[in-house]
Amino acid sequence: MFSGKHVRLRRLEETDAGTIFSHWNNYELRQYLPSPLPSSSEDLAELVRAKNRLFRERSEFFFGIEECSRGKELIGIINLESISWMSRHAFIGSFCIFEPSLRGKGYGKDAMLTLLDFAFNVIDLHVVALLVESNNRPAIGLYEECCFVNRGSMRELVYRNGKRCDVTVMDVLKKEFIERYGILPKGDDAF
Ligand SMILES: CC(C)(COP(=O)(O)OP(=O)(O)OC[C@H]1O[C@@H](n2cnc3c(N)ncnc32)[C@H](O)[C@@H]1OP(=O)(O)O)[C@@H](O)C(=O)NCCC(=O)NCCS
Repeated sequence: MFSGKHVRLRRLEETDAGTIFSHWNNYELRQYLPSPLPSSSEDLAELVRAKNRLFRERSEFFFGIEECSRGKELIGIINLESISWMSRHAFIGSFCIFEPSLRGKGYGKDAMLTLLDFAFNVIDLHVVALLVESNNRPAIGLYEECCFVNRGSMRELVYRNGKRCDVTVMDVLKKEFIERYGILPKGDDAF
């Protein structure tokens, strides 16, 4: 488990499936995640099992985000996927703070900095990249705060709410992250 200033990143537990399910079928949230299709509670239980299997295989690192002062209840998720151990790169795949009322309080940025510290200073990746819809200003603002740089866009790649959206490619190199943030302090708990 890795702690930032306000949040901890931890492995998913089977009991998290219910928490994720209670937020998951909200279109406001799902429209920004890889698939907007509704899920059943069994889908979510299988998702937790699958993400934990991939974590053990070191092919994806899917973390739950919990707020340090609120105990074990998840407030969001964040992951590193499409990992290349040869090229030492990975992509951010899913990232959200579930409740709109908990957004804008710094939890997302803290979670992303904690994940990037894990990516660069724990597992020694060289570059982390992501794709984000070009009109998602809150997310792009956060990524810029975390040293991601806009590397260009792909036109009309995503279809959402009856419209086609451009998608922006962003990346950050290990040296760029370390230049700004150094090596962040880790939580006391063992991983
Ligand atoms: C994107 C998301 C994870 C950000 O998490 P958050 O906890 O709300 O973000 P933070 O409060 O940590 O904000 C950090 C920085 O992001 C930027 N930011 C946040 N909200 C913003 C907004 N509405 N407009 C512009 N920039 C914004 C700011 O730079 C902010 O730094 P500041 O507070 O020092 O100004 C959250 O909004 C979310 O879950 N959105 C829905 C799902 C989603 O869009 N996921 C990303 C898919 S690529």
